[in-house]
Amino acid sequence: MNLSIRRADAEVEIFLGRGLLKKAGELFDLSRKVLLVTDSGIPRDYVQTILSQCKDPMLVTVPAGEENKNFSTYEMLLQACLAADLTRGDCIVALGGGMVGDLAGFSAATYLRGIDFYNIPTSLLAMVDASIGGKTGLDFGGYKNQVGAFYQPKAILCDPDLLDTLPERQLACGYAEVIKMALTLDKDLFYRIESGDAPTEELIRRAIECKASVVAKDERDTDLRRVLNFGHTLGHGIESAAKGSLLHGECVSLGMIPMCAEPVQKRLVSVLEKYRLPTRYEGAIEPVLSAALHDKKRAGDTLTVVFVNEPGNYELKKLSFSDWKKEVRRAPIFS
Ligand SMILES: NC(=O)c1ccc[n+]([C@@H]2O[C@H](COP(=O)([O-])OP(=O)(O)OC[C@H]3O[C@@H](n4cnc5c(N)ncnc54)[C@H](O)[C@@H]3O)[C@@H](O)[C@H]2O)c1
Repeated sequence: MNLSIRRADAEVEIFLGRGLLKKAGELFDLSRKVLLVTDSGIPRDYVQTILSQCKDPMLVTVPAGEENKNFSTYEMLLQACLAADLTRGDCIVALGGGMVGDLAGFSAATYLRGIDFYNIPTSLLAMVDASIGGKTGLDFGGYKNQVGAFYQPKAILCDPDLLDTLPERQLACGYAEVIKMALTLDKDLFYRIESGDAPTEELIRRAIECKASVVAKDERDTDLRRVLNFGHTLGHGIESAAKGSLLHGECVSLGMIPMCAEPVQKRLVSVLEKYRLPTRYEGAIEPVLSAALHDKKRAGDTLTVVFVNEPGNYELKKLSFSDWKKEVRRAPIFS
């Protein structure tokens, strides 16, 4: 199955299908020097499958984990580009989750002012979200994605078979993103998720289409991409108060619930439960609220949130901090 994302100067092709990993050499131009970037959590047979299709490969395996999405790993990748003597005619291929994609993409964007980049996302989150839209980068100074560049890959390859080895919680976090996109942008997709009989491949394709449609209208992240932050204000508060015990997608799941009209909340909660995503936060509410509003205080005492009145339809609501807190307290997520 072929999808493509329109962008200002070209199209990004997305190849989606089971078993496509074995066909990377037909879909990408790997008949040149290839720096393959992966992380230590990615199964070795995926890595071998790609290496065997490259004419002149060099492999770099970075340690897995968000804490490695940093300058020293980036520098290691640039060193590898130099060691392999990559020129503008060569390419970098990412094989991994969003962490590898962001780092490898940023290296491709900046080495020699930009060389070809191909992305092979291996986590569900990276397939439906991180690989789409051209954001690359790394964490810096304690902030996520503080340094980066907009840089589109030449093409993306999504093989849902790779999800067979993804740890269950990571898979669920990918579904949190699919649910987020359905709830805000695609009511039919939300019904398909509720019905529980849609094949994974269809959910991936439709979530990619949702994200791609937003990105096509707002490539440089000015306003429209705000919809992608649905659930994120409270989600960030929970993430920071939970101190690493919850994954990002789990926090976003909780963060979405209060930002829906009541009948939608009920439907969302049952969908989240089906995907084993949390619907209640066990910790105290006050540290969550203050962490959520901490960053927002610089911009005044109101915030604009994405609110869903019915599946597939959202509005941007400007709320005072106290009204936002009321909405959050009303929702059934805190004990
Ligand atoms: N560029 C963007 O637009 C964008 C959007 C959303 C998120 N992100 C970034 O993406 C990152 C999160 O991505 P993620 O959730 O994929 O996390 P991740 O890349 O850290 O991967 C999570 C874990 O799953 C393992 N893994 C990945 N695929 C696997 C597979 N098929 N089998 C077995 N293990 C596998 C990895 O080794 C890692 O240990 C963050 O850095 C975030 O900032 C970027």
